Amino acid sequence: MCGIAASVGRHGAASRVKAALERLEYRGYDSAGIAARSADGGVAYARTVGGVASLGTAPDDPTTAAIGHTRWATHGGVTERNAHPLRDCTGRLFIAHNGIIENADILRTELVAAGHRLTSDVDSEVIVHLLEDALITAVSLAAALFAAAERLRGSWAVVALDTLTGEIAATAHGSPLIAAEAADGVYVASDVGAVTDRVTEFRVIDDDDVVVLDSAGIRWWGAGQSAPTPAARTVPRSHRSPVAGRHSDHMGNEIDEQPAVARSIVNSLAPRIAEGALWNDLALPPIETFERVVILGCGTSLHAGRAVGGVFSKLGRLPSRALVASECADAVWEPRTLVIALSQSGETADVLRAFEALPRTGITVLALTNNPMSTLARRADAVIDCLAGPEIGVAATKTFLAQVLTGVCVALSGLSTSPRLAPRVFAAQQRALHHAPAAIERALRVWGDIVPGLTNRFAEAPGFLFLGRGGGVVYAAEGALKLKELTYRWAEHQPAGELKHGPLALVGQGTPVFVVDDGDPRLDVSIAEVEARGGHVVRVSGPGPQTSPSRPSTSDALLLPAWGPLDAVVPLQMFARALALHLGHNVDRPRNLAKSVTVQ
Ligand code: M6R
Repeated sequence: MCGIAASVGRHGAASRVKAALERLEYRGYDSAGIAARSADGGVAYARTVGGVASLGTAPDDPTTAAIGHTRWATHGGVTERNAHPLRDCTGRLFIAHNGIIENADILRTELVAAGHRLTSDVDSEVIVHLLEDALITAVSLAAALFAAAERLRGSWAVVALDTLTGEIAATAHGSPLIAAEAADGVYVASDVGAVTDRVTEFRVIDDDDVVVLDSAGIRWWGAGQSAPTPAARTVPRSHRSPVAGRHSDHMGNEIDEQPAVARSIVNSLAPRIAEGALWNDLALPPIETFERVVILGCGTSLHAGRAVGGVFSKLGRLPSRALVASECADAVWEPRTLVIALSQSGETADVLRAFEALPRTGITVLALTNNPMSTLARRADAVIDCLAGPEIGVAATKTFLAQVLTGVCVALSGLSTSPRLAPRVFAAQQRALHHAPAAIERALRVWGDIVPGLTNRFAEAPGFLFLGRGGGVVYAAEGALKLKELTYRWAEHQPAGELKHGPLALVGQGTPVFVVDDGDPRLDVSIAEVEARGGHVVRVSGPGPQTSPSRPSTSDALLLPAWGPLDAVVPLQMFARALALHLGHNVDRPRNLAKSVTVQ
């Protein structure tokens, strides 16, 4: 996690870095800092445990080179002392780091023994002191950074400022970093989102490359030597700026955007489902190549993946299983496996490490991401952009919906040419897909009137249960996750049938129990069991508290959406947000969390 930005230009470098950091704050907001140098050699240095906004820059900002950081704490408490940029013993060098230095303790001991004064608790500080030593003999800042990085184990994206020369160097290893040129200066940042308001192109800093930013522009070093500049990539139009809305928080606007997001996905992908067109466009091998599908992801993305996996297994009888990316070190991988790796950011370290551990043969990886410029997208065999547009709120909402719908389109397209899928069922699934945007829109409208009452009723509830069956379980899981991360209250999800095997003991007078209704009549039994113990049931089924009239009333489960009642997630997102706001929480930046989790 953490966001890094650096810039060199004629003047205003600190202000540009501050603006970039504001756009990176979703990556972590425990503390922030900027170090900058002016053309006359003056140095400005500020750190804060407030947000980036509280970092002051001069109105007529004279700085020509600046680096900055917004932190998500791993090593060391949330204090100004631990905020980046971190300084060397002389005050000449500053660095900002994202990642984890695994051998920091050993290096720290060595550095202290050699006389260095380390003033923070963070692992990153060793880098600036290694750089200080390396610069004594190195021919340049780039060479010194390269030498310092050779001492590190772990993952890093580092920017270093030499306040003597005004030069900036940057390098990366297992942590994302990009470089870009704009009219007002050159940039390095953790994510192109930091500068999409200023640039249309960017270049990826590959592992162990070093780049130098100075008044001449950006120069590239590969393996410690001058190297050709890599090809530029275009910033996709959809990633350029977030959509404004009626709420003052991003999350509210992102929830509201969901019908439009759903519509644009269905409009662009649904016409390419039939006859395997979309599948073929992704250059995926024919579906018959695969004997199984494995879903890989974390948190909300894993939930979305489970819904997509259900399409393969339910409609195609192709076995699918979901793996928590951080827990798949011992997974047994078999040939003829399609891995679908879901990650809205495409930078989640747990997913990338799981990816690296995959066997080189017999496995095809499809990345489903909201960031087609990400590390995951660059490494996968095939990539599909889930087309949600920029999502700023840390809690995933529209990206979840977009991942489900995009994944469903891909799965239906793959299965469309398979004899496993009867034409009648395929046609019904296509109809259900076309119906999704309207169902989501109606859920927003109907629950807009219901959610405020629920918020008042449950304002004091210490814990919540979310139940579902079949395709509804993933939405119950997602509802519980949203509630936890936004309200800081305990929330648990269970398949409804499991209730009587233990979790029913949690239910007492007034316990809130949200039930995601997928139309399975056995849910009525679970609801009766809850109500008999005084629990307060909220039946969530898209348009209102009663079973949705919009769903096909059929006893043939294969004609219901194979991805379950997706519209049910909308009221669960709305309720979590409303309760969090009622409790006075920042819904865009829940405590302790970050949007891009680039540490394992
Ligand atoms: O970027 P990713 O989709 O890979 O992130 C995975 C999780 O960290 C993420 O979904 C997290 O659970 C969300 N913040 C939940 O709202």
